[in-house]
Amino acid sequence: MPIPADIVNEVKYRNDIESVISSYVELKKRGKNLVGLCPFHNEKTPSFTVYPENGSFYCFGCGVGGDVFSFIKLIENLDYADAIRYLAEKSGISIIETERDNSLQAMRNKIYDINRETAKFYHSYLMSEEGKWALSYLTGRGLKISTIKHFGLGAAPDSWDMLLKHLKNQGFSIDEMLAANVISKSSKGTYYDRFRKRVMFPIINVRGRVVAFSGRAMPGDDKQGGKYVNTSDTLVYKKSENLFGMNFAKNVCEERVILVEGNMDVVSLHQAGFENTVAALGTAFTAEEAKLLSRYTKEIVLTLDADAAGQKAVKRAGEILKDTGLNVRVIVVPDGKDPDEFIKKNGPERFKALLEGAVSEIEYKLLTAVEGIDVSSDDGKLKYLSKAADIIANTPDAIARDLYISRLSDKYGITRQTLENRVKEIRKQNARRKQTSEINRIINPRYERSTVMPEKNAYPAAVSAEENIIAVLLSHPDFTEYAKEKLDSSKFISSLCRRVYERMLELYNAGNDYDLSAFGETLNDNEMGYLASLLNGSRSGTNPLTVLKDSINVLFEEELKRKSIDSAKSSNEDWAQSLMKIIDNKNKGDK
Ligand code: UTP
Ligand code: MN
Repeated sequence: MPIPADIVNEVKYRNDIESVISSYVELKKRGKNLVGLCPFHNEKTPSFTVYPENGSFYCFGCGVGGDVFSFIKLIENLDYADAIRYLAEKSGISIIETERDNSLQAMRNKIYDINRETAKFYHSYLMSEEGKWALSYLTGRGLKISTIKHFGLGAAPDSWDMLLKHLKNQGFSIDEMLAANVISKSSKGTYYDRFRKRVMFPIINVRGRVVAFSGRAMPGDDKQGGKYVNTSDTLVYKKSENLFGMNFAKNVCEERVILVEGNMDVVSLHQAGFENTVAALGTAFTAEEAKLLSRYTKEIVLTLDADAAGQKAVKRAGEILKDTGLNVRVIVVPDGKDPDEFIKKNGPERFKALLEGAVSEIEYKLLTAVEGIDVSSDDGKLKYLSKAADIIANTPDAIARDLYISRLSDKYGITRQTLENRVKEIRKQNARRKQTSEINRIINPRYERSTVMPEKNAYPAAVSAEENIIAVLLSHPDFTEYAKEKLDSSKFISSLCRRVYERMLELYNAGNDYDLSAFGETLNDNEMGYLASLLNGSRSGTNPLTVLKDSINVLFEEELKRKSIDSAKSSNEDWAQSLMKIIDNKNKGDK
């Protein structure tokens, strides 16, 4: 059940689009609108526009757009209804009561409840006499009791159904436990605890809610299911969008975040005072996680595991981070296997020194590019230098480029000029490539109209008229009565415009006004962006009623044209067919 319109309106009223977006994007006044750098794609000149007048935004670069809720939806990775709830919560408006029958939301709340209860269960089990095996493992790895409590660490008992029974006693159903992914169903149709005999790390999101678990097997166990078992994605959890430790790190990472690989590294670094440490959860670092981080920090320090897999992961993470505009540095943890072990062996001071000496991403790349190349040979030297020139050319900072050109030419005994020329050449090539892709993007924006308006190619005139009609009605819903009398929705060719028009009539008939927000729940991001672009398309100076009338006329004219073409076609076909018959009969008669 959708959130009632009056509540949506109130939430919108209390969260004007200008101040909501300003907290994410630096906006500058331009006329009666505001512009800024689009947070949804990489750009250097602002094409992201906010229209306070009608409460919408639209990016001319990438085509995203919509109302204040669409913005929150995109930037916080929520669905539309959750974006409304998110802003409602922020402004202290309660909508829980009014949507008791929203089963999805009800299930979400149940999952949160189950997760909280489960975390409590695992934690008290860890602290109990029966959980000694797990507690001594954790303290044996150097964790203090206060750290264990701080993270709410726990242990899953060596049992098939202890948690299940406990949750049942608390009144939760099997379906709810399955939805929370804390139990599993066997092929025989029975249910059992998903985590058994494992040390449990609760994953807590930035809003302080337990959203998932990560369970580590005991050393020496056969590790059925792997060293770590993690919660799969649920209604409240998307692995690719969460970072372990972010609930604490978010408060202390304005300057920098330390990204590590393992859960244990996070816990152990936090204990040592590095509370700005987070880990990607069992997957390679993702773009979503980068987006999350870029909202909280300026710089990411990637720590490198000794093994090749770790190096690969860090390289990939570096690539992802490049698009976020975050500063990236890398530390290579010497001989220790991971930061957890390093800090235990060498203490926090040494780790701090490592941090201070973290090399820039370019230094790191130059270091690792040597791998597998024998630079003592001329051939190898050449190979390495051309790789290095590529790396340097891709560095935006001119001073850094200059520095590394000098260093490398010294080190490998070539003239500065040679290397510099090579770098310049590559940069020129890159710039050309970038320009074409930029042009392509403007010509073919990501949210391409033709994908939301597939009918536009075949029927450009009619579909343009439909766009005008929708645009006028969106900003002047008071013309709905007029449109309703003149125009039946069946006349629309484009399915998107028809759907929007039908919803407009439906709302109007029910005695409601509408604006962009009336469509947020039923349209996808592309369609919403498209609608925002219609709403803000420049038709200033033209009388909206005239536009509406003319466009309706065009629709009718176009329909007539289509009909006459069709009938001409079909009469043509008739004619051809009868001709064939005559010829046929004639042939038969001839024989
Ligand atoms: P590690 O094997 O480095 O684990 O995996 P760790 O956290 O350092 O654990 P210790 O120190 O050996 O106790 C790094 C991360 O990769 C994910 C986990 O998130 C883990 O923290 N992982 C690893 C899995 O999800 N599944 C696995 O089977 C292994
Ligand atoms: Mn480890």
